[in-house]
Amino acid sequence: MNIDYQELMNNAKEAAKNSYSPFSRFAVGAAVITPNGKIYKGCNVENSSFGLTNCAERTAIFKAVSEGEREILAVAIYSPNTDSCYPCGACRQVLFEFQGDYEIDVITEILGQLEIQKLSYFLPCGFRI
Ligand code: THU
Repeated sequence: MNIDYQELMNNAKEAAKNSYSPFSRFAVGAAVITPNGKIYKGCNVENSSFGLTNCAERTAIFKAVSEGEREILAVAIYSPNTDSCYPCGACRQVLFEFQGDYEIDVITEILGQLEIQKLSYFLPCGFRI
């Protein structure tokens, strides 16, 4: 499948606008695409009990999985608050759970330029039961 990385990043940027981040003031948006070409967006959702915060990536992944998806082909991550936004360790492992035969592409924007890496670059030895 041909993935439009720029479109995925545009969706991540859109999602960042809905970020609920009154505590960190660090907005993040993410978008994942599945084999049928559907895109699911997510933002970070913080909580007064700080540890309950959900990252943008996991919001997008959980939205997709809860709609019946089981495989993710690519994820785009964006924050208007930094020059480059990489997925945290927890989100890397959650992405790995839904990697099929095709290695997940991770798209970030660095100083306005798209950077595309395989998930294994960020998580070399993901855990699977
Ligand atoms: N955050 C994400 O949404 N994704 C990441 O990969 C890293 C961190 C959020 C969590 C929290 O709301 C804010 O960024 C600051 O840590």
